Amino acid sequence: MLIDTYGRVATDLRVSLTDRCNLRCTYCMPEEGLQWLAKPDLLTDDEIVRLVRIAVTRLGVEEVRFTGGEPLLRPGLVSIIERCAALEPRPRLSLTTNGIGLKRTARALKDAGLDRVNVSLDTLRPDVFKTLTRRDRHRDVLEGLEAARAAGLTPVKVNTVLMPGLNDDEAPDLLAWAVENDYELRFIEQMPLDAQHGWKREGMITAGDILASLRTRFDLTAEGTDERGSAPAERWLVDGGPHRVGVIASVTRPFCSACDRTRLTADGQVRTCLFATEETDLRAALRAEGDAAATDDEIARIWKRAMWGKKAGSGLDDPAFLQPARPMSAIGG
Ligand code: GTP
Ligand code: 5AD
Ligand code: SF4
Repeated sequence: MLIDTYGRVATDLRVSLTDRCNLRCTYCMPEEGLQWLAKPDLLTDDEIVRLVRIAVTRLGVEEVRFTGGEPLLRPGLVSIIERCAALEPRPRLSLTTNGIGLKRTARALKDAGLDRVNVSLDTLRPDVFKTLTRRDRHRDVLEGLEAARAAGLTPVKVNTVLMPGLNDDEAPDLLAWAVENDYELRFIEQMPLDAQHGWKREGMITAGDILASLRTRFDLTAEGTDERGSAPAERWLVDGGPHRVGVIASVTRPFCSACDRTRLTADGQVRTCLFATEETDLRAALRAEGDAAATDDEIARIWKRAMWGKKAGSGLDDPAFLQPARPMSAIGG
């Protein structure tokens, strides 16, 4: 079991498959992109599957989410999913993507064993999409979403970050659209994880702002806390249900005390938290040769030890808070 000193147990593994992305969202990375990881530094497909197998068979992990960067850019994605779906016990498998390319791959992903997807989409306006992501791919995302729903990768969740002066007036329109299309919309408070270090708490659109804006058009009823479990999203029934809307308020209403996550970066480092400033190298153990070669038990032990050191929370409210060196795109949301 991956237990920490606060008694939390990590049963949810998030695996970043690449740090690259085909968008350039302004809250994430600069126009010119970032210094990408070199190919030899990335875990291979076999190494990823081995780590997932260790997590599932020895460490109690029940759900595996693949993230990026943009995970659809990873050539071996379908086969990685297939191999993870064949593990015993079979983990639940999900993917967080920007949706570009889903139109082409949704069916194959479903057939390989993927259970569901979360797709990032911040606006319904193509021109705003272009400003926000610096790419003219709005239609691709909408088509990707439709393909995911048609392939049964459901519930399809949509992640939205509201940015002041760009799309912060769109919350009710986005919710009306999501209800109509049967997507579960979640608004995410912007977090200080951008590569440019441009986040400011003052400028951020808060959960309170978002709910007030939604309530100008919808009646929202809070869902019971029992149903939330360790999920980052607080959810509300929209106009009595059955549709729901979520808010992930990592900054103003942190949920760290219920956190059940462990993370693997694309270069094989364990992160105990999105905001962790330290990492534990599993790749070195995976790649050690001869007498130094690590057994599955040894790798499991290193992972357990890393999680034991998990901090109480993100530290966002601490005056000495330091943003982690790795940006969101290289951690895997
Ligand atoms: P579901 O199982 O579908 O609810 O997935 P999810 O919401 O955990 O995953 P997703 O990848 O869609 O993430 C949505 C947002 O939640 C992203 O902005 C994540 O960065 C944020 N998030 C995910 N895990 C954590 C976490 O451990 N801490 C914080 N503060 N935010 C998180
Ligand atoms: N703050 C909040 N959410 C972010 N995402 C990317 N960068 C940030 C940030 N700085 C979102 C993406 C995606 C999810 C995984 O995280 O839009 O939906
Ligand atoms: Fe790419 Fe996601 Fe970052 Fe946007 S938020 S640039 S989609 S990694």
